[in-house]
Amino acid sequence: MTFARVMIFSLFTLLAFTGFANLVPQVQGDPPVEEKIDVGSIDMAGMVLLGEKLFSGKGTCTLCHNDMGRAPDLLGIDLAKEFPERIADKSYEGIAKGKTGPKAIEEYIMESLVDPSKYVVPGYGKKGSNDKISPMPKADTAPIELSKVEMNAVTAFLQDKAGISPTVPLPSADEAPKATGNDEDEENEPATTGVAAITKYGCATCHDLEGSEADIGPKLNGLAKRMTDAKILEAIVKPNVVIAKGFEADMMPDDFGEQMRFSELNLIVEYLKKLPE
Ligand code: HEC
Ligand code: HEC
Repeated sequence: MTFARVMIFSLFTLLAFTGFANLVPQVQGDPPVEEKIDVGSIDMAGMVLLGEKLFSGKGTCTLCHNDMGRAPDLLGIDLAKEFPERIADKSYEGIAKGKTGPKAIEEYIMESLVDPSKYVVPGYGKKGSNDKISPMPKADTAPIELSKVEMNAVTAFLQDKAGISPTVPLPSADEAPKATGNDEDEENEPATTGVAAITKYGCATCHDLEGSEADIGPKLNGLAKRMTDAKILEAIVKPNVVIAKGFEADMMPDDFGEQMRFSELNLIVEYLKKLPE
């Protein structure tokens, strides 16, 4: 009995490790440490840089805004043309309505961040909402939770991308220290708990985790009952191998394997297995 258990355990461990090794050869090394930005003495060029970093980092914007078609490809489309067109759209009723120029673009972007459903880019609304409800989570609340300064930075970055000089305010002296807070450091540090790893990689922007109620991806409760560890792992690092019923391929980012450390992947699998049914 005990022997059989040991055998099964070793076999499982062996399989798990060969599985890991085959699936994620890239995650063994630590990703390069990113350059830090000192928000304390930041000018507009610094804001643009910070915004660019937030866009693909803490903001998790690139999880959806990429060339996979689940949201406008903000880094690929001609923003100089698109932003003014959105504001001029007949069905646009937001704060920048009827306005033109750089400040109007700032208002439009900021509104997109804090109130995404105010205007839904045609064709991108939640299924069945007739383009009335945006699938984008608010950027100023969990799980994205950017500070005001950080949203200004992202806005500056997008204005810059649209070929205009950013019009956002620079952080005041007392705002600045907050923006340099631990988040920046934490981003480069390996997550040490399942919740931290889930937060770091933005899983809750699409899955209903930690109370986010997001529904772009399926509910992950009860995974342990229907999937082996190896299958859960595969679903994370190679999401397009098996597509969850009722969902489409190419929705879940397929580069988590490159970004995550081995330890983080493990923590996430353990976290998911323990979710209540
Ligand atoms: C979970 C997916 C998702 C995430 C994460 C996300 N967005 Fe979006 N976003 C969308 C979708 C879908 C749309 C189009 C529907 C709409 O207009 O709300 C959109 C629209 C926008 C628009 C208006 C685009 C346009 O072409 O007019 C802006 C600006 C924007 N997002 C910025 C951001 C920024 C900045 C972040 C990160 C802080 C972010 N989004 C994170 C899904 C997402
Ligand atoms: C941009 C949205 C998005 C993000 C971010 C995202 N997912 Fe997903 N996920 C999906 C979608 C859509 C599916 C269903 C399609 C598929 O199976 O690939 C899915 C499927 C899954 C599945 C398979 C579920 C099943 O029932 O088969 C797992 C497990 C999973 N995701 C875990 C994660 C984890 C862990 C993270 C964070 C590291 C994450 N996802 C981030 C959208 C996302």
